[in-house]
Amino acid sequence: MRSYKAKMVEPIRLPSREEREAALDAAGYNAFNLDAADVFVDLLTDSGTGTMSAEQWAALMRGDEAYAGSDSFGRLCESVADVMGFEHVVPTHQGRGAENVLYGVLVDEGDVVPNNAHFDTTRAHVANQGAEPVDCTLPAARDPDSSDPFKGDFDVDAGWELVEEVGAESIPVVVLTITNNSVAGQPVSVENTREVAAFAEEIDATFVVDACRFAENAYFVRERESEFAGWTVADIVREQLSYADAVTMSGKKDAIVNIGGFAAMRDDDVFEAAKQRAILYEGFPTYGGLAGRDVEAMAVGLREAVEPPYVEERVEQVAELGRLLVEAGVPVYEPTGGHAVYVDAERVLPHVPKDRYPGQALVCALYREGGVRGVELGGFAFPGTDRPDLVRLALPRRTYSREHLEHVAETAGRVRESAEEYRGLEIVEEPEMAELRHFSARLRPVPASHAAD
Ligand code: F0G
Repeated sequence: MRSYKAKMVEPIRLPSREEREAALDAAGYNAFNLDAADVFVDLLTDSGTGTMSAEQWAALMRGDEAYAGSDSFGRLCESVADVMGFEHVVPTHQGRGAENVLYGVLVDEGDVVPNNAHFDTTRAHVANQGAEPVDCTLPAARDPDSSDPFKGDFDVDAGWELVEEVGAESIPVVVLTITNNSVAGQPVSVENTREVAAFAEEIDATFVVDACRFAENAYFVRERESEFAGWTVADIVREQLSYADAVTMSGKKDAIVNIGGFAAMRDDDVFEAAKQRAILYEGFPTYGGLAGRDVEAMAVGLREAVEPPYVEERVEQVAELGRLLVEAGVPVYEPTGGHAVYVDAERVLPHVPKDRYPGQALVCALYREGGVRGVELGGFAFPGTDRPDLVRLALPRRTYSREHLEHVAETAGRVRESAEEYRGLEIVEEPEMAELRHFSARLRPVPASHAAD
């Protein structure tokens, strides 16, 4: 049962099968090229696509649009201090703006930056500084069936191996991403957070938490880490983030806004340097590329994220989608993560070889069969890696109802039953930068005559 009701509605429509097939063709079999109006249930991302509360809409009207010293910035600082425990805040237009500001200050050419797993934009910003991003992911994370409660953790042994290899002086920053988006939205324990903090301290590195989904992570900690049974989500958030020297935050996730982000830190010098860089790339450091009203809505959303029963309902809705999919015979990555269910495309379309992009073929099949949009996060999105071909179905916050989830599960079940119809895809056009190809490449179904190649 949801503890809220709808106050505003946005119509959605399931186009006919012929329309969906034509739309797919026109989109070059790339779901990023579909018009949103042609999508029935849009699970492309949970980023900026959620539903704001009445309080957040009211906050928009209170927004102070002063260029400098806006009241809304003051309220954001109070929320960040209360919810996350940081005194210094640099607002930015979204999460990657915070990465640019912070890593521009902390990371130099030739450095190496370990992370439990870099999200694409984090990886790109580290690389943009001329540094090397390295993933220290747990071996269990590669197993979609292992029931390890914290598959998102940072592999500290791998961190020490990296120190041996490149030397502690090359590692200025250690990053921990909670929850771990690149590992099926899996959580990170507080115990692991303490270990990573100790590791960073020992090698004299700044410990940064990529905190986009901090509230979802805290909910998992309460459910799965015995030390925290009976704690409030708000107290767990404060405890987990107390070990970090700085955070980067995309407000589009756990601050439940459509746009916004910030970096927050403890060190005065880092704060001063970050503000200078923010002026260059984002805007004056009391608005950071945002309208005052957006800053105000983010200040309210941050507090809502840790107020019960919000996050419990949120994570349980994702788990419910996972259960419905399993009941429909669709193999998913277990356990389900905080913001999304990751479908194992290699098992839904086992006859489609990896170089025919089974993940992307499944994305197209879900749209063709039921107007559902997900995103491939496997061999198509990450060329040259050995990532498993997973399709992420990310739930926007407070947006869809049980009937929508049932539709998604029925759609995926039908795709599984008609799997033989899908032969995979081949790329016909792709951008120069391979890392960005899944946003704009064009593909086509493998012709029947090529099927056995
Ligand atoms: N870090 C993580 C872990 C993220 O998931 C994202 C965004 C960012 C940083 C960057 O934040 O989009 O506000 O600039 N993830 C979105 C997604 C885009 O679909 O998972 P941003």
